[in-house]
Amino acid sequence: MCCVVGRFNEGSVRPLIAGNWKMNGLSSQLGEIEAIAASVAATRPIAEILICTPATLIARAVQSAAGRIGIGGQDCHAAVCGPFTGDFSAQMLKDAGACSVIVGHSERRQHHGETDAMVAAKASAAWRAGLHVILCIGETQAQRADGKALSVCGDQIAGSLPEGATSSATALAYEPLWAIGTGQTPTAEQIVEMHAHIRQCLELRLGEEGRSVRILYGGSVKPSNAREILALPEVGGALIGGASLKADDFEGILRTVSLGIDALRVEQRTDGNCMTRVGIASDHGGFALKVTITRSLRSLGYEVVDYGAYQLNPADDYPEFIIPLAKAVATGQVERGVALCGSGVGASIAANKVPNVRAGLIHDDFSARQGVEDDDMNVICLGGKLVEAARAVELIETFLSARFSGAARHQRRLSEVQALEHEDT
Ligand code: PGA
Repeated sequence: MCCVVGRFNEGSVRPLIAGNWKMNGLSSQLGEIEAIAASVAATRPIAEILICTPATLIARAVQSAAGRIGIGGQDCHAAVCGPFTGDFSAQMLKDAGACSVIVGHSERRQHHGETDAMVAAKASAAWRAGLHVILCIGETQAQRADGKALSVCGDQIAGSLPEGATSSATALAYEPLWAIGTGQTPTAEQIVEMHAHIRQCLELRLGEEGRSVRILYGGSVKPSNAREILALPEVGGALIGGASLKADDFEGILRTVSLGIDALRVEQRTDGNCMTRVGIASDHGGFALKVTITRSLRSLGYEVVDYGAYQLNPADDYPEFIIPLAKAVATGQVERGVALCGSGVGASIAANKVPNVRAGLIHDDFSARQGVEDDDMNVICLGGKLVEAARAVELIETFLSARFSGAARHQRRLSEVQALEHEDT
């Protein structure tokens, strides 16, 4: 499978990263969409990307998006046309170039008195017009405090998701009202619990089809928390308000998608168009190995970024090369890293000091795979004095093809380790 961006209705396993501009956006802001589209073209995140603009901007936003990202609306009327001054029908959005529409956003439910039945009618109208639908649900702070969060969301699904929903035309967005625009987010446990419940409700309602409807999380998603949220089980994407208005913020979130391919549990296999970008670095102890495996990996179709050493210098020290490599992995410049020194131990110690790097010293296939599946390892360390080049390439390929399981227990352990990175020492 290769990177596919900005396409809809072609299967539902890719995460969906959707921006919601709400009542923001003048023609002067179309540059943000151009910048996002350019960044998508350059970084090729493995996700469908959508920006839902005000209806007034849709047609121009479609031009700015240049086919690289989808443009959607934020609401539609349930009727095709008629005496509804100020409203827009789903057909009108479609005609303007939208491919998707948000329905049942809590701000519509709150400020426009939209009921579940009205939301259901809008969703059906959108499907009839050929639009993909993002249907929002979510509880208030008081409902959560009363222990009613799950039942409220379950009722909203029962009332506002029409029969016949398909995964290619529908995504559910869980947006707790108290997290929208507040900077507050639920805990990972709360998101996991709610998304599991939503999955159950979808399966009950839609049977087999309910298994593949994407469940997005929305509410104060930003670059600093996107990766953690998107890696949670049953989180199939995000609906992003404030952080979608500025290309820089939105791109920060998209970078975590490219970075966190493993965590997103999305298959990415090179097929000639979509390469895994790997960084490599070594001191003198792994220099010869680095030269050989860089050549081999490139001939296998990987894009390899070399962080040095660029010449053999027996007096050099591993931090000089390994730390820049580790930072490149942590910031998404490369998806994964290969760190070498004489034994691999120094490389591993240095790499693990960089936040968001999970480096392992690996000399066997089992650990090369399981280190990623269970521990989301993103840097493999090898000893230049211990492993033959052909064997090293095998281990690296095993490491690169493995994907993080995303299982709750693995996530839990990693969160505990990650907490250390935020502790003041
Ligand atoms: P927020 O909004 O990301 O600004 O919290 C999310 C939404 O309302 O869709």
